[in-house]
Amino acid sequence: MLLLLYMQALIDTDLELAAQLLTDGKCVAIPTETVYGLAANALDRNAASQIFKIKNRPEFDPLIVHVDSMRSAMKWVTEFPENAELLARRFWPGPLTLVLPKRKEIPYEVTSGLDTVGIRVPQHDLTLQLLEMLNFPLAAPSANPFGYVSPTSADHVFDQLREKIPYILDGGESYVGIESTIVGFEDGIPVVYRKGAVTEEMIREICGDVKTATHSTSNPKAPGMLTSHYSPHADVEIITRFVRSIRDNEGYIAWKELPKGMEVKNKFILSPEGDLFEAARRLYAGLRLLDRKGLVRIFIEQVPEEGIGASINDRIRRSAAEK
Ligand code: TXA
Ligand code: MG
Repeated sequence: MLLLLYMQALIDTDLELAAQLLTDGKCVAIPTETVYGLAANALDRNAASQIFKIKNRPEFDPLIVHVDSMRSAMKWVTEFPENAELLARRFWPGPLTLVLPKRKEIPYEVTSGLDTVGIRVPQHDLTLQLLEMLNFPLAAPSANPFGYVSPTSADHVFDQLREKIPYILDGGESYVGIESTIVGFEDGIPVVYRKGAVTEEMIREICGDVKTATHSTSNPKAPGMLTSHYSPHADVEIITRFVRSIRDNEGYIAWKELPKGMEVKNKFILSPEGDLFEAARRLYAGLRLLDRKGLVRIFIEQVPEEGIGASINDRIRRSAAEK
Protein backbone atom coordinates (compact mmCIF):
# COMPACT_ATOMS: atom_id res chain seq x y z
CA MET A 1 0.00 0.00 0.00
CA LEU A 2 1.33 3.42 -0.94
CA LEU A 3 1.81 6.11 1.63
CA LEU A 4 -0.20 9.22 0.73
CA LEU A 5 1.64 12.51 1.03
CA TYR A 6 -0.17 15.70 1.95
CA MET A 7 0.77 19.35 1.34
CA GLN A 8 0.79 20.06 5.04
CA ALA A 9 -1.23 18.91 8.02
CA LEU A 10 -3.88 21.33 9.25
CA ILE A 11 -3.72 22.09 12.96
CA ASP A 12 -7.10 22.97 14.45
CA THR A 13 -9.88 21.93 16.81
CA ASP A 14 -12.56 20.86 14.31
CA LEU A 15 -14.01 17.65 15.74
CA GLU A 16 -16.39 17.12 12.80
CA LEU A 17 -13.53 17.18 10.33
CA ALA A 18 -11.37 14.90 12.47
CA ALA A 19 -14.26 12.42 12.77
CA GLN A 20 -14.89 12.53 9.03
CA LEU A 21 -11.25 11.85 8.15
CA LEU A 22 -11.08 8.95 10.62
CA THR A 23 -14.34 7.52 9.27
CA ASP A 24 -12.79 7.69 5.78
CA GLY A 25 -9.92 5.49 7.00
CA LYS A 26 -7.35 8.30 7.35
CA CYS A 27 -4.89 8.85 10.21
CA VAL A 28 -5.32 11.91 12.45
CA ALA A 29 -3.12 13.08 15.34
CA ILE A 30 -5.07 13.44 18.58
CA PRO A 31 -4.22 15.01 21.94
CA THR A 32 -4.19 12.99 25.14
CA GLU A 33 -3.10 13.84 28.67
CA THR A 34 0.06 11.72 28.27
CA VAL A 35 1.38 12.40 24.75
CA TYR A 36 -0.19 12.99 21.32
CA GLY A 37 -1.37 9.88 19.49
CA LEU A 38 -1.45 8.99 15.80
CA ALA A 39 -4.99 7.65 15.52
CA ALA A 40 -6.90 5.46 13.07
CA ASN A 41 -10.00 3.26 13.13
CA ALA A 42 -8.99 0.29 15.31
CA LEU A 43 -11.47 -2.02 13.54
CA ASP A 44 -10.03 -1.28 10.08
CA ARG A 45 -6.86 -3.27 9.34
CA ASN A 46 -5.88 -1.03 6.42
CA ALA A 47 -6.18 2.14 8.49
CA ALA A 48 -4.13 0.54 11.27
CA SER A 49 -1.46 -0.54 8.78
CA GLN A 50 -1.10 3.10 7.67
CA ILE A 51 -0.02 4.00 11.19
CA PHE A 52 2.95 1.61 10.98
CA LYS A 53 3.98 3.11 7.62
CA ILE A 54 3.74 6.70 8.77
CA LYS A 55 5.73 6.04 11.95
CA ASN A 56 8.17 3.64 10.34
CA ARG A 57 7.19 1.35 13.17
CA PRO A 58 8.20 -2.33 13.17
CA GLU A 59 5.26 -4.66 12.81
CA PHE A 60 6.02 -6.45 16.09
CA ASP A 61 5.11 -3.34 18.12
CA PRO A 62 1.35 -3.42 18.94
CA LEU A 63 -0.86 -0.32 19.12
CA ILE A 64 -2.90 0.92 22.07
CA VAL A 65 -6.67 1.12 21.54
CA HIS A 66 -8.48 4.20 22.91
CA VAL A 67 -12.13 4.16 23.99
CA ASP A 68 -14.46 6.67 25.66
CA SER A 69 -15.45 4.63 28.72
CA MET A 70 -15.05 1.41 30.63
CA ARG A 71 -18.32 0.22 29.07
CA SER A 72 -16.85 0.66 25.62
CA ALA A 73 -13.65 -1.09 26.67
CA MET A 74 -15.72 -4.13 27.71
CA LYS A 75 -16.95 -4.45 24.12
CA TRP A 76 -13.45 -5.20 22.81
CA VAL A 77 -12.11 -7.65 25.38
CA THR A 78 -13.22 -11.13 26.41
CA GLU A 79 -12.14 -10.93 30.06
CA PHE A 80 -11.91 -8.15 32.60
CA PRO A 81 -10.23 -9.61 35.70
CA GLU A 82 -11.26 -8.20 39.07
CA ASN A 83 -8.02 -6.29 39.51
CA ALA A 84 -8.37 -4.78 36.04
CA GLU A 85 -11.82 -3.57 36.94
CA LEU A 86 -10.60 -2.04 40.20
CA LEU A 87 -7.82 -0.21 38.37
CA ALA A 88 -10.09 0.98 35.56
CA ARG A 89 -12.65 2.31 38.04
CA ARG A 90 -9.96 4.20 39.89
CA PHE A 91 -7.81 5.54 37.04
CA TRP A 92 -9.98 5.86 33.90
CA PRO A 93 -10.11 8.28 32.22
CA GLY A 94 -6.37 8.53 32.81
CA PRO A 95 -2.80 7.47 32.02
CA LEU A 96 -3.25 3.71 32.43
CA THR A 97 -3.31 1.07 29.67
CA LEU A 98 -4.66 -2.40 30.52
CA VAL A 99 -3.53 -5.40 28.49
CA LEU A 100 -6.46 -7.82 28.23
CA PRO A 101 -7.56 -10.72 25.96
CA LYS A 102 -8.98 -9.23 22.78
CA ARG A 103 -12.19 -9.91 20.92
CA LYS A 104 -11.90 -11.00 17.32
CA GLU A 105 -13.21 -7.66 16.01
CA ILE A 106 -9.85 -6.11 16.94
CA PRO A 107 -7.63 -7.13 14.01
CA TYR A 108 -4.21 -8.70 14.49
CA GLU A 109 -2.73 -5.77 12.56
CA VAL A 110 -3.48 -3.66 15.64
CA THR A 111 -2.11 -6.14 18.21
CA SER A 112 0.86 -7.33 16.12
CA GLY A 113 -0.49 -10.86 16.17
CA LEU A 114 -1.07 -10.99 19.93
CA ASP A 115 -4.31 -12.32 21.41
CA THR A 116 -4.31 -9.44 23.89
CA VAL A 117 -5.04 -5.77 23.34
CA GLY A 118 -3.72 -2.72 25.19
CA ILE A 119 -6.70 -0.50 25.90
CA ARG A 120 -7.28 2.79 27.72
CA VAL A 121 -9.64 5.74 28.24
CA PRO A 122 -7.60 8.93 27.78
CA GLN A 123 -8.32 11.95 29.95
CA HIS A 124 -8.71 14.72 27.41
CA ASP A 125 -11.98 16.53 26.69
CA LEU A 126 -11.48 16.94 22.94
CA THR A 127 -10.44 13.35 22.40
CA LEU A 128 -13.21 11.99 24.62
CA GLN A 129 -15.74 14.02 22.60
CA LEU A 130 -14.22 12.69 19.38
CA LEU A 131 -14.44 9.09 20.63
CA GLU A 132 -18.09 9.61 21.55
CA MET A 133 -18.84 10.83 18.01
CA LEU A 134 -17.30 7.74 16.40
CA ASN A 135 -18.79 4.28 16.21
CA PHE A 136 -15.36 2.64 16.42
CA PRO A 137 -12.41 2.80 18.86
CA LEU A 138 -9.12 4.46 17.90
CA ALA A 139 -5.80 2.66 17.64
CA ALA A 140 -3.10 5.21 18.48
CA PRO A 141 0.59 4.91 19.28
CA SER A 142 2.54 8.05 20.10
CA ALA A 143 2.64 10.41 17.09
CA ASN A 144 6.38 10.36 16.43
CA PRO A 145 8.71 8.44 14.13
CA PHE A 146 9.55 5.11 15.81
CA GLY A 147 12.19 5.36 18.53
CA TYR A 148 12.13 9.17 18.74
CA VAL A 149 10.91 11.34 21.62
CA SER A 150 7.08 11.35 21.97
CA PRO A 151 5.20 14.59 21.14
CA THR A 152 3.49 16.60 23.88
CA SER A 153 2.10 19.39 21.67
CA ALA A 154 0.52 19.81 18.23
CA ASP A 155 3.72 21.60 17.09
CA HIS A 156 5.83 18.59 18.01
CA VAL A 157 3.63 16.40 15.80
CA PHE A 158 3.74 18.94 12.97
CA ASP A 159 7.55 19.10 13.13
CA GLN A 160 7.90 15.47 12.13
CA LEU A 161 4.72 14.27 10.45
CA ARG A 162 3.49 17.38 8.63
CA GLU A 163 3.28 15.90 5.13
CA LYS A 164 2.27 12.42 6.24
CA ILE A 165 -1.08 13.20 7.86
CA PRO A 166 -3.94 15.51 6.89
CA TYR A 167 -4.97 16.74 10.33
CA ILE A 168 -3.72 17.41 13.85
CA LEU A 169 -6.40 17.95 16.47
CA ASP A 170 -4.95 20.66 18.71
CA GLY A 171 -5.63 20.04 22.39
CA GLY A 172 -2.82 22.14 23.84
CA GLU A 173 0.06 20.72 25.83
CA SER A 174 -0.24 17.22 27.27
CA TYR A 175 -0.35 17.75 31.01
CA VAL A 176 1.13 14.42 32.12
CA GLY A 177 3.89 14.44 29.52
CA ILE A 178 5.09 10.81 29.59
CA GLU A 179 3.33 7.75 28.15
CA SER A 180 0.71 5.77 30.05
CA THR A 181 1.55 3.05 32.56
CA ILE A 182 1.01 -0.34 30.87
CA VAL A 183 -0.34 -3.14 33.06
CA GLY A 184 -1.04 -6.76 32.16
CA PHE A 185 -2.31 -9.58 34.40
CA GLU A 186 -0.70 -12.89 35.27
CA ASP A 187 -3.01 -15.13 37.31
CA GLY A 188 -5.00 -11.99 38.02
CA ILE A 189 -2.01 -10.17 39.52
CA PRO A 190 -1.10 -6.85 37.89
CA VAL A 191 2.26 -6.73 36.10
CA VAL A 192 3.72 -3.38 35.09
CA TYR A 193 5.19 -3.55 31.56
CA ARG A 194 5.88 0.18 31.27
CA LYS A 195 6.15 2.72 34.08
CA GLY A 196 4.08 5.91 33.96
CA ALA A 197 2.16 8.42 36.04
CA VAL A 198 0.14 5.63 37.67
CA THR A 199 2.90 4.24 39.84
CA GLU A 200 3.48 0.76 41.25
CA GLU A 201 2.72 2.10 44.74
CA MET A 202 -0.66 3.35 43.51
CA ILE A 203 -1.44 -0.02 41.94
CA ARG A 204 -0.35 -1.94 45.03
CA GLU A 205 -2.61 0.23 47.18
CA ILE A 206 -5.61 -0.85 45.12
CA CYS A 207 -4.78 -4.46 44.23
CA GLY A 208 -2.63 -5.42 47.20
CA ASP A 209 0.04 -6.86 44.94
CA VAL A 210 1.98 -5.83 41.84
CA LYS A 211 4.88 -7.24 39.82
CA THR A 212 7.30 -5.53 37.51
CA ALA A 213 8.15 -7.16 34.20
CA THR A 214 11.85 -7.53 33.57
CA HIS A 215 13.37 -5.83 30.56
CA SER A 216 13.89 -7.55 27.27
CA THR A 217 15.06 -6.19 23.96
CA SER A 218 13.89 -9.02 21.75
CA ASN A 219 10.22 -9.80 21.40
CA PRO A 220 9.34 -7.49 24.29
CA LYS A 221 5.93 -7.64 25.90
CA ALA A 222 5.74 -3.87 25.55
CA PRO A 223 8.26 -2.42 23.11
CA GLY A 224 8.08 0.73 25.21
CA MET A 225 10.45 -1.56 27.12
CA LEU A 226 13.04 -1.59 24.35
CA THR A 227 16.27 -0.48 25.98
CA SER A 228 16.78 2.30 23.47
CA HIS A 229 13.62 4.31 22.88
CA TYR A 230 12.31 7.85 23.33
CA SER A 231 15.62 9.10 22.09
CA PRO A 232 16.66 12.32 20.28
CA HIS A 233 19.20 12.50 17.43
CA ALA A 234 21.91 13.89 19.71
CA ASP A 235 23.74 11.47 21.99
CA VAL A 236 22.25 11.61 25.46
CA GLU A 237 24.57 11.19 28.42
CA ILE A 238 23.32 10.87 31.96
CA ILE A 239 25.27 12.96 34.46
CA THR A 240 27.04 10.68 36.92
CA ARG A 241 29.91 12.97 37.88
CA PHE A 242 30.62 16.68 38.02
CA VAL A 243 30.97 18.09 34.51
CA ARG A 244 33.05 21.23 34.41
CA SER A 245 32.39 22.66 31.01
CA ILE A 246 29.81 22.12 28.36
CA ARG A 247 30.73 23.09 24.81
CA ASP A 248 28.57 25.23 22.55
CA ASN A 249 27.64 22.17 20.50
CA GLU A 250 26.45 20.37 23.63
CA GLY A 251 23.44 20.90 25.87
CA TYR A 252 22.55 20.38 29.53
CA ILE A 253 19.20 19.40 31.04
CA ALA A 254 19.08 19.97 34.79
CA TRP A 255 16.53 18.73 37.30
CA LYS A 256 16.18 21.93 39.40
CA GLU A 257 19.15 24.19 38.67
CA LEU A 258 22.49 24.26 36.89
CA PRO A 259 25.52 23.18 38.92
CA LYS A 260 27.16 26.18 40.61
CA GLY A 261 29.40 28.14 38.30
CA MET A 262 28.50 26.21 35.18
CA GLU A 263 28.24 28.30 32.03
CA VAL A 264 26.23 26.69 29.29
CA LYS A 265 24.65 28.10 26.17
CA ASN A 266 22.10 25.34 25.53
CA LYS A 267 20.30 24.58 28.75
CA PHE A 268 16.91 23.47 29.99
CA ILE A 269 15.66 23.19 33.57
CA LEU A 270 13.03 20.46 34.14
CA SER A 271 11.48 22.08 37.22
CA PRO A 272 12.99 25.08 39.02
CA GLU A 273 10.48 24.39 41.83
CA GLY A 274 11.56 20.77 42.13
CA ASP A 275 8.11 19.46 41.17
CA LEU A 276 8.28 15.95 39.67
CA PHE A 277 4.97 16.37 37.81
CA GLU A 278 6.29 19.52 36.16
CA ALA A 279 9.48 17.65 35.25
CA ALA A 280 7.45 14.86 33.60
CA ARG A 281 5.39 17.42 31.71
CA ARG A 282 8.50 19.24 30.40
CA LEU A 283 10.96 16.38 29.78
CA TYR A 284 10.14 15.69 26.11
CA ALA A 285 9.75 19.38 25.23
CA GLY A 286 13.24 19.96 26.68
CA LEU A 287 14.80 17.09 24.75
CA ARG A 288 13.16 18.30 21.54
CA LEU A 289 14.12 21.92 22.10
CA LEU A 290 17.79 21.09 22.48
CA ASP A 291 17.75 18.44 19.74
CA ARG A 292 16.40 21.01 17.27
CA LYS A 293 19.65 22.94 17.67
CA GLY A 294 21.56 20.07 16.10
CA LEU A 295 23.76 19.45 19.15
CA VAL A 296 26.13 16.49 19.25
CA ARG A 297 25.46 15.64 22.88
CA ILE A 298 22.88 16.38 25.55
CA PHE A 299 23.85 15.88 29.18
CA ILE A 300 20.93 15.16 31.46
CA GLU A 301 20.48 14.82 35.22
CA GLN A 302 18.22 12.15 36.69
CA VAL A 303 15.45 13.18 39.08
CA PRO A 304 14.70 11.75 42.55
CA GLU A 305 13.63 8.09 42.14
CA GLU A 306 10.31 8.51 43.96
CA GLY A 307 6.71 8.29 42.68
CA ILE A 308 6.52 9.48 39.06
CA GLY A 309 10.26 10.24 39.34
CA ALA A 310 11.00 6.55 38.76
CA SER A 311 9.03 6.72 35.50
CA ILE A 312 10.84 9.89 34.41
CA ASN A 313 14.21 8.24 35.10
CA ASP A 314 13.08 5.20 33.12
CA ARG A 315 12.53 7.44 30.06
CA ILE A 316 15.80 9.29 30.66
CA ARG A 317 17.71 5.99 30.75
CA ARG A 318 16.08 4.75 27.56
CA SER A 319 16.79 8.03 25.77
CA ALA A 320 20.45 7.64 26.77
CA ALA A 321 20.75 3.96 25.86
CA GLU A 322 23.06 2.82 23.03
CA LYS A 323 21.08 2.99 19.74
O1 TXA B 1 0.18 7.24 26.75
C1 TXA B 1 0.15 6.43 25.85
O2 TXA B 1 0.07 5.20 26.05
C2 TXA B 1 0.24 6.95 24.41
C3 TXA B 1 -1.06 7.71 24.08
C4 TXA B 1 -1.14 8.14 22.65
O3 TXA B 1 -2.16 6.94 24.47
N1 TXA B 1 0.46 5.89 23.49
C5 TXA B 1 1.64 5.25 23.41
O4 TXA B 1 1.68 4.32 22.41
O5 TXA B 1 2.59 5.48 24.13
P1 TXA B 1 3.02 3.63 21.89
O6 TXA B 1 2.67 2.86 20.71
O7 TXA B 1 4.08 4.63 21.71
O8 TXA B 1 3.35 2.60 22.99
C6 TXA B 1 2.44 1.58 23.17
C7 TXA B 1 3.06 0.48 23.91
C8 TXA B 1 3.98 -0.25 23.01
O9 TXA B 1 5.25 -0.38 23.58
C9 TXA B 1 3.25 -1.54 22.83
O10 TXA B 1 4.03 -2.60 22.61
C10 TXA B 1 2.46 -1.71 24.12
O11 TXA B 1 2.04 -0.39 24.35
N2 TXA B 1 1.35 -2.60 23.89
C11 TXA B 1 0.28 -2.40 23.13
N3 TXA B 1 -0.50 -3.49 23.09
C12 TXA B 1 0.11 -4.43 23.85
C13 TXA B 1 -0.17 -5.79 24.19
N4 TXA B 1 -1.24 -6.41 23.72
N5 TXA B 1 0.68 -6.43 25.01
C14 TXA B 1 1.78 -5.82 25.49
N6 TXA B 1 2.10 -4.55 25.19
C15 TXA B 1 1.29 -3.86 24.38
MG1 MG C 1 5.81 5.44 21.27
